[in-house]
Amino acid sequence: MNLLELRSVTKSYRKNGATIRALDDVSLALMPGDFVAVRGPSGCGKTTLLLSAGLMLSPDGGSVWIEDQDGYALSPDARAALRARRIGFVFQQFHLVPFLTLWENVLVPTMALPCPGIEERARGLLERFGLAHRMQHYPEELSTGEKQRTALARALLNQPKLLLADEPTGNLDPDNARILLDHLCEFAASGGAVLLVTHEEEAAARAKTQVRMKEGRFVS
Ligand SMILES: Nc1ncnc2c1ncn2[C@@H]1O[C@H](COP(=O)(O)OP(=O)(O)OP(=O)(O)O)[C@@H](O)[C@H]1O
Ligand SMILES: [Mg+2]
Repeated sequence: MNLLELRSVTKSYRKNGATIRALDDVSLALMPGDFVAVRGPSGCGKTTLLLSAGLMLSPDGGSVWIEDQDGYALSPDARAALRARRIGFVFQQFHLVPFLTLWENVLVPTMALPCPGIEERARGLLERFGLAHRMQHYPEELSTGEKQRTALARALLNQPKLLLADEPTGNLDPDNARILLDHLCEFAASGGAVLLVTHEEEAAARAKTQVRMKEGRFVS
């Protein structure tokens, strides 16, 4: 079964009387083990694509399926629960909460979905990501690479099947970028699916499949 399927998704933004077509009939399917990188110039619709796939931005047309569920046909509560159980999201600007410590930031997703053993799992992830010694630090006290790995740990905490990552290496030096991409590869190799958005060629080259986007459409 597909972990993610977009069927003819369209999305426009309306601003000051003008309409911007950010997604124009986009279809895509990801199975377990898939690692797809979407490349394209700034403004071509990459973040819109990820937000729609992540059940955070309702499309104007088409549908987004998470396994056998039509995400936007669900009630808002059911959609939020599905998102929490199945999807990990790494945002373009990390989206760490500035007044929470690294440890608290990683545990944020469990507030909606408490589950036993989650603190052990969080500790394990932070050790794996080399962050164990930074748990009591606040985001402003972390390096960019540390912030990015914190965001990834948070995305992985609920053991999602699908990982959506928006320019996760955009602010990283080559070593940190490689570490982050290693983790994405490992996630896919262990049966997850990754949809990575990037405009970096080296990052995209680590994916199994590369797709190009231009003006809201896939061009290859
Ligand atoms: N909330 C919004 N309101 C109006 N227009 C928007 C909104 N969000 C995005 N857009 C427009 O939609 C288009 C696609 O934006 P999107 O953020 O998906 O691009 P992107 O490919 O992620 O760009 P970047 O590489 O710079 O992050 C752009 O033209 C952008 O200006
Ligand atoms: Mg973007």
